[in-house]
Amino acid sequence: MSIDTRDFRNALGKFATGVTVITTKDAKGEQYGVTASSFNAVSMTPPLILWSIDKGAYSKDVYCQAEHFVVNVLASDQVPISNRFAQRGENKFKGIDVEEGAGGCARIVGAVAHFECRTWEVYEGGDHFIIVGEVLNYDYQDGRGSLVFHGGRYALPEPHPMMLSEEESRTGEGVLGQHFLYLLRQSLAAYRQGFYPRLVHLGVNEKEWRILTLLLDRGPQPLVQVAQGVAQPLEDCEDTLSGLTCRDLVAESGDQRHLTLTSAGNELANKLLKMAREYEQKVFDSVSDEEVNHMKSGLIHVIEQLGSR
Ligand SMILES: Cc1cc2nc3c(=O)[nH]c(=O)nc-3n(C[C@H](O)[C@H](O)[C@H](O)COP(=O)(O)O)c2cc1C
Repeated sequence: MSIDTRDFRNALGKFATGVTVITTKDAKGEQYGVTASSFNAVSMTPPLILWSIDKGAYSKDVYCQAEHFVVNVLASDQVPISNRFAQRGENKFKGIDVEEGAGGCARIVGAVAHFECRTWEVYEGGDHFIIVGEVLNYDYQDGRGSLVFHGGRYALPEPHPMMLSEEESRTGEGVLGQHFLYLLRQSLAAYRQGFYPRLVHLGVNEKEWRILTLLLDRGPQPLVQVAQGVAQPLEDCEDTLSGLTCRDLVAESGDQRHLTLTSAGNELANKLLKMAREYEQKVFDSVSDEEVNHMKSGLIHVIEQLGSR
């Protein structure tokens, strides 16, 4: 069976994972780190985990020969660390806070879990090597969210609104039904559920919608900036982009890989924003413009107050 690699990656991206940075050291004491979402549990007794490394990766030999490695499970605010270790090559540790783990491998400070491992076995797996590790030591922190990777984008883990307890699910009632976080979660989930399926009618997916509307709103931008703006790692953003360039919706130019909407892209992005405005109007049908503006300024206040972007 011959498959289209991009499409296969899209299909695999439907399986949500966390994001890890696997660190190790070579015989000369040089530190290495690679962002990996292929981490998984294997066995409880003995405690085994696995991950796989691309045979084309710069550091694959080091990992295949290493006696020890550490799996650092990234926290939701560690996107820049994920992006850093997804770059090819050496010297990725500048400015990264680390401690020493098993075999001298780096433990990234702030990771939500660390699994310090001894290499148990390395298996061939097509264009990857599957590395199984025996866990010698582990620790984790509660209270901080893990970084999630889903559909080629970074995401946050959120409780499913359908799984909230009976007590919590009485919107507007009691202390919990009025809790700001509860209201935000419920409204976000409901808004998303109503909005995203509409994109299909205009022939785009969620990732394409973000790139098109970002370019319309902020003007032409380098690929790196767009990837950041749509919360995609560079390589995944390139995948999304190739779907847009081959439909002649976005054009790329120059060394900095500047992205610009074509006239067809501009027309489609305008249609998408119009659809988004209409959806918003429909949701707030019975609410005055003044009240909607109050709600929006309240949300902006929370964002500014808590220092998020
Ligand atoms: C979210 C995410 C998950 C990734 N998962 C893996 C993985 O499981 N295995 C792998 O070999 N590369 C994975 N990569 C790509 C590597 O991080 C990237 O190829 C990196 O350049 C490897 O480092 P090296 O070439 O310096 O060895 C992932 C990248 C990202 C952004």
